[in-house]
Amino acid sequence: MKFFLDTANLDELKKGAAWGIVDGVTTNPTLIAREGREIEEQIRLICDIVNGDISAEVVSTKAPEMIKEGRELSKIHKNVVVKCPLTREGIMATSALSREGIRVNVTLCFSPSQALIAAKAGAYIISPFVGRIDDISWHGMDVVRNIVQIYRNYGFKTKVLAASLRSPTHVVESALAGADIATMPFKVLDELFNHPLTDKGQEQFLRDWAKVFQEARG
Ligand code: G3P
Repeated sequence: MKFFLDTANLDELKKGAAWGIVDGVTTNPTLIAREGREIEEQIRLICDIVNGDISAEVVSTKAPEMIKEGRELSKIHKNVVVKCPLTREGIMATSALSREGIRVNVTLCFSPSQALIAAKAGAYIISPFVGRIDDISWHGMDVVRNIVQIYRNYGFKTKVLAASLRSPTHVVESALAGADIATMPFKVLDELFNHPLTDKGQEQFLRDWAKVFQEARG
């Protein structure tokens, strides 16, 4: 399973990249706007930090403009994956860009039927939003599970990227569901490390070691 960071913040990306466990980055208009730079510059800076798929989202709403914008975004760096929303216009743009060999991450997916459409349009990635489905009292992870099963049934190559993950449990459940990629905020990546028995065990190892090898020399 690949781990992507769902952030455009360079400090967070540098910290995550230093651990050697970040395979890519997802951004969206909200995350890019938060950093205050033009998208081209921000994506270029991100590509300098993480060597992997970097999703950059179009903000046009009509297919011809989305296609134009997608082509421009794809020129920023070879690792850029163009993100299109799962609207009728977005799917039209996804089909066109995919036929040109531009990789598309279809975003704002909330159902298996939408995921089927994205796969048929040739999407490189489908992004079901787990947390936002949970937010409306439905089961976000069931959507991921169903998409994985449907893609397996028909051998679709589209990768399943579990997005809108809010907790370490979401990441583990995405792995159990068979998602190819989990994208998460830096906070969630950091929380994946935590276990009280690791902290307790480490403290004890170092205490025992110090008793013999440091206090003795003391
Ligand atoms: O990439 C999509 C993801 O960022 C959405 O997450 O937490 O805003 O639902 P969230």
